[in-house]
Amino acid sequence: MLSEPPAIYGIIGTPLAHSLSPLMHNAAFKALKVNAVYKTFELVDDEELKLFFEDLREKDNPTFGLNVTVPYKEKVLPYIDVIDPFADKVGAVNTLVIDHQRKIFGFNTDGPGFLSHLEELKFNPKDKRIVILGAGGTTRSILSVLCLINQKPTNIKIFNRTYSKAKALVDSLSSKIDMSNVEVVDNIEDLNVELADLLINTTSVGLKGEEKFLIDTTTLHKDMLVYDVIYNPKETPLLKAAKAKGAQTANGLSMLFYQGVLAFNHWAGTDIEDKYKKVMRQALEGGLK
Ligand SMILES: NC(=O)c1ccc[n+]([C@@H]2O[C@H](COP(=O)([O-])OP(=O)(O)OC[C@H]3O[C@@H](n4cnc5c(N)ncnc54)[C@H](OP(=O)(O)O)[C@@H]3O)[C@@H](O)[C@H]2O)c1
Repeated sequence: MLSEPPAIYGIIGTPLAHSLSPLMHNAAFKALKVNAVYKTFELVDDEELKLFFEDLREKDNPTFGLNVTVPYKEKVLPYIDVIDPFADKVGAVNTLVIDHQRKIFGFNTDGPGFLSHLEELKFNPKDKRIVILGAGGTTRSILSVLCLINQKPTNIKIFNRTYSKAKALVDSLSSKIDMSNVEVVDNIEDLNVELADLLINTTSVGLKGEEKFLIDTTTLHKDMLVYDVIYNPKETPLLKAAKAKGAQTANGLSMLFYQGVLAFNHWAGTDIEDKYKKVMRQALEGGLK
């Protein structure tokens, strides 16, 4: 870890006002006694993004690591010198490492972060039937990782409000990832939630706690895991309905945590110890109180 003052880390995107990443990473820097600070860099448009990267290349720029969030995870690709093979397949980057020569390395820790959480939940995707609601940036990472692991699901069905976007996502991923067990459905009933082992919501429905359901909640059942990538509120109406049906439920806070830990590991050049991970998790949980 580079610790000569002032080492800067941070997140680029917009909007960033509610990002919990500064809390999590600054807590880790403090616990590790590293003289570094994690900041938010709100970039309002592509022009600001371009100028930001021009500045990042400057020899005296003290920024050595960044997270990338909406809407720039794909837009940063042209600025990266070396892309990690997984991130290349996903076509999206959420973590950058910048070395002393100002060379920029890109990684994707969203997919692996999701997978780490599934492991924590003791959910093995092998031979499972998985259904996904939504086809945005989060689905891109989750779907990629689920199609690349050795523990292959039997099938993955995706439903999105805008069918063409889901189709385009799967088509674009297909050029680098085997998507033969993925089906985009046009009609939500064709998801067959009643037969699913895992339902993942990646849409923003539930973000405001609104009692709106994309699926028929009577199809939820006790032999499934219902995963909502939303973490605020902690329990979305979907998770509440799933719990009432006896299903195992999980929100997205641990996915956020694990992607953050994996990003931090890239910056540190090593895996951080469990005691520091605990500090990061506590900081995240504290940020939601
Ligand atoms: N836990 C984590 O670590 C983590 C990480 C990233 C994001 N998230 C959360 O994941 C959610 C999605 O983020 P994202 O980056 O994937 O967003 P995104 O790329 O903008 O995609 C949003 C998705 O939600 C769908 N959607 C939005 N409003 C809808 C509505 N009213 N009815 C039905 N579908 C609707 C969109 O459908 P259309 O294609 O039809 O527009 C699209 O599929 C957000 O709530 C975000 O906070 C969590």
